[in-house]
Amino acid sequence: MPDFYEVLKTRRSVRAYTDRPVNEKELKELIDLAAWAPSGNNIQPWTFTVITNKGLMDKLSDRVKAILRESPDPYFANYANDPSYHLFYQAPALILIYGDVQAPSAMIDCQLAIENLFLAAHARGLGTCYMGLLLLGRDDPQVRQLLRVPEGHGLMAATVLGYPAVTPPAPPRKAVQIEWVR
Ligand SMILES: Cc1cc2nc3c(=O)[nH]c(=O)nc-3n(C[C@H](O)[C@H](O)[C@H](O)COP(=O)(O)O)c2cc1C
Repeated sequence: MPDFYEVLKTRRSVRAYTDRPVNEKELKELIDLAAWAPSGNNIQPWTFTVITNKGLMDKLSDRVKAILRESPDPYFANYANDPSYHLFYQAPALILIYGDVQAPSAMIDCQLAIENLFLAAHARGLGTCYMGLLLLGRDDPQVRQLLRVPEGHGLMAATVLGYPAVTPPAPPRKAVQIEWVR
């Protein structure tokens, strides 16, 4: 087991993956660890979907890029107009966390769960990357249909997962501002 503080500091958003699949036992264990996250009133409003179907990931990437192409924000349009950009970086797995829309803290709870998953995956030598661009398409009917979002749920967090082909250097962190009120 690697040192916990080392895991915290060396986790990176990985954007290049090997072809090696992640076995289902490992995926299940990581999701079980994600579900140890705290949740408001312990409601645990999450359900998880694992997509390993490359064709489906390609369709999702294409659809989200089409949505981003319409964005007035050049930051998003740049991704959409780059033909080499694949939303999921050819990772072997995409993990989606759906939250119960009735649970008041579902959005927060799902972010806590995904961070658990990030750290657990990294501790086991796996890479992850938060899929914020996918979340931008969460209300699109085609995206919802492709994702088979369960009734009464919304897509609240998503990550790719796989064995890193390249581990990027740590992007710099800002100096942390702390105000002490004593
Ligand atoms: C809410 C959120 C959305 C993100 N969306 C994306 C994304 O769509 N694609 C991507 O490559 N990285 C995405 N990232 C990863 C960030 O770019 C990354 O966390 C940040 O640059 C710091 O790098 P590090 O995670 O390696 O420390 C996202 C991160 C967060 C927290």
